[in-house]
Formats: sequence, C-alpha cells, structure tokens
Amino acid sequence: MARHLITSAIPYINGIKHLGNLVGSQLPADLYARYQRARGNEVLFLCATDEHGTPAELAAKKAGQPVAEYCAEMHAVQARIADGFRLSFDHFGRSSSPHNHRLTQHFAARLDAEGLITEVSETQMFSHADGRFLPDRYIEGTCPNCGFDSARGDQCDNCTKQLDPVDLIEPHSTISRSTDLEMRETKHLYLRQSSMKDQLEAWIDSKADWPLLTTSIAKKWLNDGDGLRDRGITRDLDWGIPVKKGDEDWPGMEGKVFYVWFDAPIEYIASSLEWVDAGTGAGVDQGWERWWRTDKGADDVRYTQFMGKDNVPFHTLSFPATILGSGEPWKLVDYIKSFNYLNYEGGQFSTSRGRGVFMDQALEILPADYWRWWLLSHAPESSDSEFTWENFQTSVNKDLADVLGNFVSRVTKFCRSKFGEIVPEGGSYGPQEETLIADLTTRLAAYERQMEAMEVRKSAQELRAIWVLGNEYLQSAAPWVAYKEDPDRAAAIVRLSLNLIRFYATLSSPFIPDAAQAMASAMPEGPEAWPTDLAATLNALTPGAAFAVPDNLFRKITDEEVEEWQASYAGVRE
Ligand code: 2FM
Ligand code: ZN
Repeated sequence: MARHLITSAIPYINGIKHLGNLVGSQLPADLYARYQRARGNEVLFLCATDEHGTPAELAAKKAGQPVAEYCAEMHAVQARIADGFRLSFDHFGRSSSPHNHRLTQHFAARLDAEGLITEVSETQMFSHADGRFLPDRYIEGTCPNCGFDSARGDQCDNCTKQLDPVDLIEPHSTISRSTDLEMRETKHLYLRQSSMKDQLEAWIDSKADWPLLTTSIAKKWLNDGDGLRDRGITRDLDWGIPVKKGDEDWPGMEGKVFYVWFDAPIEYIASSLEWVDAGTGAGVDQGWERWWRTDKGADDVRYTQFMGKDNVPFHTLSFPATILGSGEPWKLVDYIKSFNYLNYEGGQFSTSRGRGVFMDQALEILPADYWRWWLLSHAPESSDSEFTWENFQTSVNKDLADVLGNFVSRVTKFCRSKFGEIVPEGGSYGPQEETLIADLTTRLAAYERQMEAMEVRKSAQELRAIWVLGNEYLQSAAPWVAYKEDPDRAAAIVRLSLNLIRFYATLSSPFIPDAAQAMASAMPEGPEAWPTDLAATLNALTPGAAFAVPDNLFRKITDEEVEEWQASYAGVRE
C-alpha cells in the first residue's frame, strides 16, 4: 500500500472563491485523493484557509467585524461550501491556528540559527490617520510618468510603470484617504534565499518528471534573479503570527508579524497537527510525523501539491528554502501539479466585480457533480481554458445526461419492466460480451495511467470513453429485441449491464462522487473495490438479488436556463 500526502493551495479567507479558484487547486487535489483512496492506498489530504495579511484585515473592516471573528466565520463558510462540493479533506485547517503560530516561530528560529536571516532597516510609508505602515498597494496618487490619478504605490495601471510610493504625486492612503503620510524607518527580517540558489537549483533539476508549467515558472524565477532575491518575511501589521524566535521574543521585532506567504505553506504541516487534535480521519494512522518527518517514516510518502500557476514560485523556491534552510528532516514536495487560469465568458472571473460564478452560487444552481464534471473535464492544464454556459450545457447534457445517466436509466427500467427489480438469471455471456470486456480492460488501463499521471482532462476523456462503450454495447446487443426471441439472452445482456453500472460507480467516484454513490447503492452488493479482473467484475452481482431503480442521475440544462444564467452572472455582485 502506497502512502500519499496531498495538499491543495490554501484559499485566502476573504470572500468566497470562484470556480476558477476551485479548479486550480482544491478540486483536482480532491480528484487525486479520491482516486488514490479508491486504489486502496493510504491518503492524507489537507487544506486550510489562508487567514493573515492585509486583505483579511481590510475585509474584516469592511464587514465591520473584529478580524479574528471575521476569519472564524469565513472559515466556517468556506468549510461548508467545500463540503457541498464534496471536497474530501481529511482536515480543513486554519493558518491562524495555535499550531501554525508555534511551527512558524519554530521555523524562523531554525532559519536564524542556520544564519539564514538578516535584519534590514528600511523606510516605509506610515499613515498617521490609520496609525500603521501602509503596504505599497494601499497608497495611491498621481503617476509621475503619465499623470494617471489612481496609480498605486507599486505600479501604475495606466502606463504599467513600476513605482515606489515616494514617486507618487499627492499620495494618499486608500484605507482612510488621508494624505497625512510620512516615510519612517522600520526594521524587517529577510530570508537569505539567494544564498540557497545552488541547492534549490539542484533540487529543481532533480525533478525531471515535473510538468512543464511548474518547472518553467520555477526556472524563470530562479534565473531572472528577481525570484531569488532575499525576501522580507515580516510585516508591520496587527493581524498575523507575532515575530518570535521559537518561544523567545525577538528583540527589535516587537509588534511585527510574519509575512502571510511565510506562514501560509507552513500551515500544510500545521494542518496535520490540527487534524490529530480533531481526531477525525478514520482509517488513516494519526501519527503526523510519519507524513512529514523523513526521520520518522515520511521517506515512503509521496507528497503532491496542487496549485494555480501564480503560486508556483512560492512552492518551488520560497517554501523549499524554509524547509531546506531549517536543517531539519522535513518532507519536501515530490510533485507539483500546477494549473493555468480558467476564464469566464470571454473575460476574466472578477471577485471585485462579481463577474462569473462563485462557489456558493454554483451550488444553488446545480448539485456538485455537474460542476465537478465540467470543471475537471475542462481543467486549464496545457493552457488557460474558458467557462461558457453553452459549453457547460453541452457537456452536462451530452456526457452526464445522454451518456451515463441515460445508460443507467435504460438498463434499470428495462430490467424492471421485463424481469422485475432483481438481477436476472439465465443465459450466458458470448462473443459480444468478450469483446466488450477486452475493450474495457484496455480503456481501464488507459484511465488508470492518466489518473496516476494527474492528467485531469485526459482522465475525464478516458472515463467518458468507458461510459460510451457501455452505451454502444447496449445499443448493439439490444436486449429489447433479443427478449422477443430469446429471453435468456436478454437476461444475460441486462445482467452484464447492471454489473456495468456498479463498475461505473467505482470508476466514476473520483469525478462525480454523489452520482457514483447513487449508482453503487442501487445495486445489491453495494460499492465494489477497484476492479482488477473485468471478467470477474462484470459477473459479480448475484443473479436473483434485488436492486433499486435509481432516480434520474442527471437532468438536462435548457436553453432558457442558459440565457438566464448568462445574464445573472455577468457581473453585479458587491
Ligand atoms: O493564492 C492563494 O490563494 C494563496 N492563499 C495560496 C497559498 S498556498 C500556500 F502557500 F499555503
Ligand atoms: Zn502612469
């Protein structure tokens, strides 16, 4: 039995995520976790909310809530929606947890002991009205280059010139709109990642099997010089993990917190400690160290991370720098599966403008399986991909309703009308069934190959091809014709088809878990283990045993609905 540690990039706490966020990390991670579990492997699948940083503070302010309270509420909201999408995390943690505080402070102490941290004095814009230092993008003013009046402290969106806050003419705080700003001196900790360039490069070079998207981004940052600049890992904020050296105070760092990107990936580890506290995850050995410490058995673990392409630099360079720099035997990632972006109807999803479909809205429109199927079968792997309502309609109506749903309903209803709700006895499989079994065996091997390789779209294509084989078989074997001449022959065809439903349930469960569950529980023997011998699998149901005709698995989407949804989600949400 193999052991798989799987993490999804942890979503920011501020606000509900859109479908593009979902398909870029949590959903494909869930697909892989479910697949590995179905194969009988031991899986620890972790995710969390990313709760620190200015965006969380500002969102709480906007909501009129203390930030800790806001985060607790939003965590519950995100957890509920994740459940709605059937994301099967063993634990959905919080980067603000006490475990993450302790671990982050521990890593900082280790990095300092290894000589990898320096203190740097810098000047930064302080806002008297807000009583705080302002991050560059919370300062706006007139662009010295083009005269645009809403240029940000880091960049002018009009002429794209990179800026420093001091370059802006008449700068003001975007929080209070105050112009009472002053450049003040402040001290920050920097992680000397530049000194680890060779080590990181050798590690990345050793990953010959990584997807091109991952390695190309990693190498670009490694070699541009930009990515491996020493990084400031502290901030002047109230909300975050206080800067400490393990349990000890860090002189000069009072009132400061760690940068959100320093503590967020450490939450992957902390989340497994939260999981142990929560005592959930039956069937998985709770010793967290055997997943994370190579001196405690984690050498046998295969660790896979899932994320959008914008997260790749932090996971290929910064987080490994933290892990390697600690000098302790922590588990490093083995494989990074990254994704391009999903666009929405000819443009981008926009959280601020409410353009596109957000996770809560999606579940109000249709159940999770519809979305899971579309998103995974159109995952933005080799390039960006685009959600359109028409494409969604086509895919749902054809793949789910016409191919899979229709097969299940035809077989079970035909059986009920001719043989009753029992697996029919009599007749035997012949050459047609042998051909089908051979074809399915080939296809199953291809499906497994693609799933192992995390080729998400190709896996969906293989699964669909397996559903299609069943339909084609049913069409050409035509039990409704056979029944007239030879009821025993019809019984054998229907029996094989009922076995196919159960086989489909197992194979489809990583993609569409609810429909899979409905299919499996309709059959007398319930769910089957992952098939290895198809001749046996398609003979598994006991003749004479009772089954149930499941409700229609999928409904079709109408043209009117497509029009209505197009209009509703074009961008209004505040
Ligand atoms: O891009 C994002 O949504 C970040 N919150 C991802 C963090 S992943 C990790 F490092 F924890
Ligand atoms: Zn400009």
